Amino acid sequence: MVPNTFINIAIDGYSSCGKSTIAKALAKDIGFTYIDSGAMYRCVTLFFIQHNIDLSNDQAITDALAKIVLDVNETEFLLNGKDVSNEIRNMQISQLVSKVAAIKLVRTKMVAIQQAVGNSKNVVMDGRDIGTAVFPKAQLKIFMTADPAIRAKRRYDELIAKSENVSLAEIAENISMRDYEDTHRSESPLRQAEDAIVLDNSHLNPTEQLNFVKDLLSSRQLIAL
Ligand code: DC
Repeated sequence: MVPNTFINIAIDGYSSCGKSTIAKALAKDIGFTYIDSGAMYRCVTLFFIQHNIDLSNDQAITDALAKIVLDVNETEFLLNGKDVSNEIRNMQISQLVSKVAAIKLVRTKMVAIQQAVGNSKNVVMDGRDIGTAVFPKAQLKIFMTADPAIRAKRRYDELIAKSENVSLAEIAENISMRDYEDTHRSESPLRQAEDAIVLDNSHLNPTEQLNFVKDLLSSRQLIAL
């Protein structure tokens, strides 16, 4: 196997920890490509809902996956050419996405796409299994966590700002359900990679988080500050 000459930064952690905020800001700051792997699972979930795919039918899943073309870039998420950036964040998708992400056929396809990107450019990728399964040799792995009540409030504020009709209790329940499903599934469950650095951002602002990660990158001589 040819060694990967590109730098891969893996940011994993629980739902609504602010992984994408820090990953996006970091990528922009150091000139890397940002990939939101959760958005890819959300796009697949949207397609499955739109086409009434039975999640227990492997053939139906295989056929559906063959029809999905994803174009996930920094600013928008295209599902078969259509911008679904807003749609994939709604509660209906959030309720089902963990179940879709637990399906091996789905993960195999998403991981192959993610690895192809990481083998062709410097990336910051956030998700649940980036440091453990997608890029086990990532040059830096961060494992993010935050107080569940703080995570629920953050997600609630985000959805209310987008005029979604949601309650804080509903969000808190969804987050705890996803934490459970993400950590208990058999396929690549969410867990901290042995060589990951923990970042608890309950009481850190985005600038403090960014500096924390940049200091690590600099100490590993991956960037010059
Ligand atoms: O990061 P997010 O909340 O948008 O992710 C949506 C779901 O996708 C989440 O419940 C777990 C799943 N996911 C995953 O299993 N593996 C990833 N690399 C990213 C997300």
